[in-house]
Amino acid sequence: MADIEDLAGPGTGPLHPSDAAALASLHRRCMGAEDGWTEAGMQRLLAAEAARILCFWGVPDAPAGGHAGIEPLAFVLAFVAADEAEILGLCVAPDRRRQGLARKLLRQLAEDLAQQGTDWVYLEVRASNFAARELYRQAGFVETGRRKGYYQGAEDAVVMGKQLSGA
Ligand SMILES: CC(C)(COP(=O)(O)OP(=O)(O)OC[C@H]1O[C@@H](n2cnc3c(N)ncnc32)[C@H](O)[C@@H]1OP(=O)(O)O)[C@@H](O)C(=O)NCCC(=O)NCCS
Repeated sequence: MADIEDLAGPGTGPLHPSDAAALASLHRRCMGAEDGWTEAGMQRLLAAEAARILCFWGVPDAPAGGHAGIEPLAFVLAFVAADEAEILGLCVAPDRRRQGLARKLLRQLAEDLAQQGTDWVYLEVRASNFAARELYRQAGFVETGRRKGYYQGAEDAVVMGKQLSGA
């Protein structure tokens, strides 16, 4: 497994449209078929002027003797509107979790958004997603509301927000 120091990023460099397939594939792996994005959906998101994406790239584990290319290992994608932003996606490849990648992505995103004049950042998370809720709580997000039965299967969405002034 490559060391974290070997990873490129997070970077805001322009993503090529062909990156959409790999990013969507990582998102589906992390979120499951029900919540995961298609390649076409990912392409639309990346093309939007409001989109901000930060991504860690690296070489995934390959079978002994195999050749592997650079792939996204973790990314966060947010949309900015006026002085608010919404995190639409955050995912880390299963074999790269608990290494601080999501925390680093959130910290960098908050710094970038604050510098660009964004005041608040929000997100919705499944009530049952303990790992993500704990991650956001540790990153300074607080619960600002609930959307009853928001997800298919009638699971609630927890709305969390963080004020960025001073980030
Ligand atoms: C949630 C997710 C993004 C966390 O990514 P990660 O890189 O493993 O998180 P980090 O290593 O940066 O963890 C930072 C902190 O978050 C909390 N955390 C992360 N994963 C956790 C888990 N499984 N259980 C409890 N707390 C967790 C911990 O406080 C952790 O700090 P610590 O490791 O020092 O205890 C990752 O598990 C994931 O991709 N899950 C599937 C997709 C998803 O649910 N995305 C969020 C949608 S809103």
